[in-house]
Amino acid sequence: MKTLVYGSLNIDSTFALDHIVQGGETQASFGLTKAAGGKGANQCAAIAKALGKDQVFMAGKAGRDGAFILENLSSFGVDVSNVALCEEGTGQAIIQLDRNGQNSIILFGGGNQLNTTDEMDSVLSKFSADDVLVMNAEINNLDYLFSKAVEKGMKVWVNPSPITDALLALPLEKASVLVLNEIEGAVLSGLDAGCSFEEILKALVAKYPRTEIVLTAGENGAYYGYGSTMEHVGACKTKVVDTTGAGDTFLGYFLASRIGGKDVKQSLRIASKAASIAVSRPGAMDAIPFAVEII
Ligand code: RIB
Repeated sequence: MKTLVYGSLNIDSTFALDHIVQGGETQASFGLTKAAGGKGANQCAAIAKALGKDQVFMAGKAGRDGAFILENLSSFGVDVSNVALCEEGTGQAIIQLDRNGQNSIILFGGGNQLNTTDEMDSVLSKFSADDVLVMNAEINNLDYLFSKAVEKGMKVWVNPSPITDALLALPLEKASVLVLNEIEGAVLSGLDAGCSFEEILKALVAKYPRTEIVLTAGENGAYYGYGSTMEHVGACKTKVVDTTGAGDTFLGYFLASRIGGKDVKQSLRIASKAASIAVSRPGAMDAIPFAVEII
């Protein structure tokens, strides 16, 4: 079984701040780092680091300035031959990181918004019904990618982030697995953001009866729902340095654990541990642990 991540690659510029900048406020940052990121690339890195074998493929589009992201992914064993190059440059993420490790992110699409349907057809032609597609909403032509992969019978894992009109237009009831946080869960379920995790989970399970739901809940751990099966694991305690990419790490480790034959509860625990390590380190892709670090 091969795993294809068709998604975003970003250069993350992270500004360390006392607090997230308010409207009209100017604030001096006390640190600036540039590193590899993008939800797609992070998720791909997490799957490859977790699996530790060569069955993970990244597809998308980046500029020459993003060559270091591809080098990083290759070093984890990812096949990056399906990442197209463009002159317009790699996607950019401006990340504000506060003293509590919480963030606020501004995206500029760059290559992420330039994927063509011909490229998608060409990439998907190399995969079959036995394979998994992971996608999020940071790239264009989402509807085309989703429907073609479903048509082929691929198992489609969707991280519905960020919530966009294009994302909301997808027939998500055809996804195999949805991995999302409570904000995304509240929007998709139609509930208020103030609802409990359990209420959001139940509403999503009822709305998407043929889709496994994985709801990440930060310091409250993670929830799983499918039919009458509900699971919950608590979060591993850690000192939070940077939450950027925690959800991507969780998704990658949960998927790799399921592919590796672990049951849902074990997979939630492993993913939770991986995410707790990721948030204890700075950065997104660089912070994702290797499998040997998960005990
Ligand atoms: O999920 C974290 C990622 O979101 C960052 O790496 C940033 O690039 C944005 O895509």
